Amino acid sequence: MIRINNIHLYYRQHGIALHALRGVSLDINPGDYIALVGPSGSGKSSLIAAVTGLIFPSEGDIFIDRFRINRISRNARAKIRAKYCGIIFQFSEMPGRFTIRENLYLSWLSAHRGKDLSEFEERLELVCAKLDIHPLLEIRPGNLSGGQLQKTAIARAIIKDAPIILADEPSGDLDPDNVKRVRNVLQEEIENGKSILMVTHDAKLASDAHTIYELRDGQIHNVLK
Ligand SMILES: Nc1ncnc2c1ncn2[C@@H]1O[C@H](COP(=O)(O)OP(=O)(O)OP(=O)(O)O)[C@@H](O)[C@H]1O
Ligand SMILES: [Mg+2]
Repeated sequence: MIRINNIHLYYRQHGIALHALRGVSLDINPGDYIALVGPSGSGKSSLIAAVTGLIFPSEGDIFIDRFRINRISRNARAKIRAKYCGIIFQFSEMPGRFTIRENLYLSWLSAHRGKDLSEFEERLELVCAKLDIHPLLEIRPGNLSGGQLQKTAIARAIIKDAPIILADEPSGDLDPDNVKRVRNVLQEEIENGKSILMVTHDAKLASDAHTIYELRDGQIHNVLK
C-alpha cells in the first residue's frame, strides 16, 4: 500500500544543507501496525511529512498504492492524501475559524464527496463515542486544552475511514485514561484492516505495534520488534 524506496531528504538551515533522511526504505501493507521511535531530531516527523507528500525527498521514491507521490502534481497529491491518508500531526493543524464539528466534517468530506450528510452524522457519533469528545464539538480549536485538541486531531484523522493512518505522537498530551482510549481506537482501526505508521515516545503505545523501527540520524538504525 505504501512503498518508501531509499529516500533522502535535505533541509536548508542558515544556508547549510541538513541531511534529515538518509536512505530510508520501508513498506507498509494493509493491516500493518508500525511504530517509529527514536530521539528528537532523528527525522521521524520528516518521514511522515514525506510519506504524505507534504515535503519532497531529493532522492528515492514514495508510492501510495500505485501513485508515485513525489512525481505527481500538487493537485493530484492532495487528492491522494485526502483519499488514502488520515493524518494526526504532531502539532495540530486544525483551522481555527471552524468549530471541531466543522473541522471533522471538512476532513470527512475530503474523502467522501457527494455522499449523504447522514453518513457523516453516523460516523461522527461513532468517533465521538470512542474518543469521548461530544462536549467539544461546538468549540473552536483555539479554545481547547492540549489534550482535548489532541483527541480531536485523532478524531479528524479517523473520521475519514481512510486506509492508512499516519500518526505523529498521537498521545503526547494525554492522561493515562485517554492514552488507553487512543490505544483502543488504533487497535480497532487495525482490526478493521487499516494500516498505521505511528511515531511515538510512549513505550506502551509502541508495544501495540507489530513492528517497531528505531530511527537515528535519519536512518533506520534498528528493528526493535
Ligand atoms: N522545516 C524545517 N526546516 C529546517 N530543518 C528542519 C525542518 N524540520 C525539521 N528540520 C530538521 O530536521 C531534523 C529532523 O527533524 P524532525 O522534525 O523530523 O525530527 P523528529 O524525529 O520528528 O523529532 P521530535 O521527536 O523532536 O519530534 C532536525 O535536525 C530538524 O532540526
Ligand atoms: Mg517530530
